[in-house]
Amino acid sequence: MILEGQPTRSIRRTADGAGVCILDQRQLPWEVRWVELRSADAAAVAIREMWTRGAPMIGATAAYGLAMALAEDGGDAALAAAHAMLVETRPTAINLRWALDTVRDAVAALPPAARAEAAFARADAICDEDAALCRAIGEHGLALFRDLHARHPDRPLNILTHCNAGWLATVDYGTATAPIYLAHDAGIPVHVWVDETRPRNQGALLTAFELRNHGVPHTVIADNAGGLLMMQGRVDAVIVGTDRVTANGDVCNKIGTYLKALAARDNDVPFYVALPYTTFDPATATGADIPIEERSAEEVARLTGPDETGRIATIRVTDSPALNPAFDVTPARLVTGYITERGVLARV
Ligand code: MRU
Repeated sequence: MILEGQPTRSIRRTADGAGVCILDQRQLPWEVRWVELRSADAAAVAIREMWTRGAPMIGATAAYGLAMALAEDGGDAALAAAHAMLVETRPTAINLRWALDTVRDAVAALPPAARAEAAFARADAICDEDAALCRAIGEHGLALFRDLHARHPDRPLNILTHCNAGWLATVDYGTATAPIYLAHDAGIPVHVWVDETRPRNQGALLTAFELRNHGVPHTVIADNAGGLLMMQGRVDAVIVGTDRVTANGDVCNKIGTYLKALAARDNDVPFYVALPYTTFDPATATGADIPIEERSAEEVARLTGPDETGRIATIRVTDSPALNPAFDVTPARLVTGYITERGVLARV
């Protein structure tokens, strides 16, 4: 992606190679702030407290976290401890475990002194691969979008998305956003309905920031608006990312995704899920077996944004008890197709 006029990726090594730079997503869209992570503990904090987020991106950050742990101590005990610490930071996205296992397995047979360098190299490879996977998802999604647009060539293609499955959530391109960016760049008129995605507002804050940055026409909507828009024929397709797809095709994604899939089915709107193979979890049978992260009720009880002086402030919207499950499961039967790096797998 291009950010502040420069081509860049959402995660990159520090100039000395010993740490990584990530965007502090808590500051977006108000401030583009890069932060350096220089230890496994720092990587764990960044993932747990959502300085960085999105399934592939937390995998990439954790991979570097494991490499940084090995730079301090390359022994077996340190490797196991850092893996255990990082894998517990967030429970739902399978990419986190996949990336940590991939790095661990790549270095386990090496002598301790050689492990850190090999782990950094493997983490770099995970990032390069993620960018390539998302690009391939974008190309397959682009073909799909061309077909959808051809049905109504006289008007823009209206896509609805939930949460942020963009380049902020991956190393580049995003998953759900990759076809949107490629279609826009190819001259297909695309307009995106952006669910605000309460309680953390990843849509209104992050996806809208990305689309604005790329010049893609978009409109932020309240999470409850999508059903009406579908009923009015103003949505041609829904496309979302995912944190884990199970063996039977169930899709775990940001809370609220399931309701969009239900509304899409009721209104004959195609519902697509974009994912790389790193998000597929064949070892988990169904969505009911996925651990659903429950985050602090404070995220529901408060709204965050700049006050009149530009200072980031939070206001409390309720003093009642609140509940904050961060993800839900969309049953496979509601999915029209999975857009992967290998092509679109349609449900028949
Ligand atoms: O809690 P978050 O912001 O990490 O949740 C992110 C999502 O639900 C994304 O849709 C998912 O990780 C796919 S990112 C390509």
